[in-house]
Amino acid sequence: MNTQPVVEADGLVQTYRIKRGLLREPAQLRAVGGVSFAVQRGRTLAVVGESGCGKSTLARMVTLIEQPTAGTLRLAGVDAVGADAAERRKLRRAVQLVFQNPYGSLNPRKKIGAALEAPLEINTRLARAEREERGRAMLAKVGLRPEHYTRYPHMFSGGQRQRIAIARALMLEPALLVADEPVSALDVSVQAQVLNLLVDLQHELGLAYLFISHDLGVVRHIAHEVMVMYLGLVMEQGPKERIFARPLHPYTQALLASTPAVDADRRAPRVVLQGELPSPLDPPAGCVFVTRCPYAAPRCRAERPELREVDARHVSCHFAEQFAAAPSP
Ligand SMILES: Nc1ncnc2c1ncn2[C@@H]1O[C@H](COP(=O)(O)OP(=O)(O)OP(=O)(O)O)[C@@H](O)[C@H]1O
Ligand SMILES: [Mg+2]
Repeated sequence: MNTQPVVEADGLVQTYRIKRGLLREPAQLRAVGGVSFAVQRGRTLAVVGESGCGKSTLARMVTLIEQPTAGTLRLAGVDAVGADAAERRKLRRAVQLVFQNPYGSLNPRKKIGAALEAPLEINTRLARAEREERGRAMLAKVGLRPEHYTRYPHMFSGGQRQRIAIARALMLEPALLVADEPVSALDVSVQAQVLNLLVDLQHELGLAYLFISHDLGVVRHIAHEVMVMYLGLVMEQGPKERIFARPLHPYTQALLASTPAVDADRRAPRVVLQGELPSPLDPPAGCVFVTRCPYAAPRCRAERPELREVDARHVSCHFAEQFAAAPSP
């Protein structure tokens, strides 16, 4: 069996320089502060956290749109950071991105068929008839009808457009699909349909997914592994079952508590997020979550907790062992 991960990240960091007027030194904004994970074929890693925690930045690094400031990234075992331009171009085909707003990424003047065939036209030498055959096959795979092939984007609903965006992303047969809030703009009923489609496609094609969402409820259905981020750092990471059954980081507990659909069978203290998200330009010393954590202790202000294995997942909280040892509430 091939157990080579489709994608493997180790200590990925992205730091931006922020200009602050003529006289002041530019500030450093650490959007992603050292993130590690691996995703196997046919598996989904969900990345969850509030706005600004670094999810899209991570997506841009994994899809080779941006080079990381530090860390390593391997795609099917190949070093993507050290690769030269030609190699990166090749690797880029294996990793495709789907965005939240499919309308923004579809050219309104281009028929759906042309949008689907474009990646083949640019990246392959397939003849026109063969391109169309593959485009039409993909359209059917994502649950759209043959007559849709010659229509324009404005003639579709939000859910249909997201199906088209997924179809286009799959035209080059990528191994990894990075989906950045792919259902956040859709009605709840339509969300479920698109999530089901992604699950079906994963089974059929063996795709690996990096699925990004601010909503733990959305990822419950689709994730195998979950990574919870806050201010660019991982708070908790591990198998979905462990994390949903018993979240150990107070931030994960708070995210779950604010997810109504998940709340019912939750076995964790009810944590309500207090206060505002700190500025990423000036994150708290010690634990970055300290300003909003109901369990904050002096040690949390002084010392950043290490991400370490506790109860079959990784947690970055000084009290994780104690939470794990306490009887279930
Ligand atoms: N190109 C950039 N230059 C400077 N700062 C950036 C840049 N891109 C992102 N940031 C900052 O990095 C942090 C992480 O942003 P990012 O967009 O990755 O968060 P996110 O988790 O995707 O948020 P959202 O849920 O709102 O999409 C934010 O503080 C953001 O302002
Ligand atoms: Mg984002």
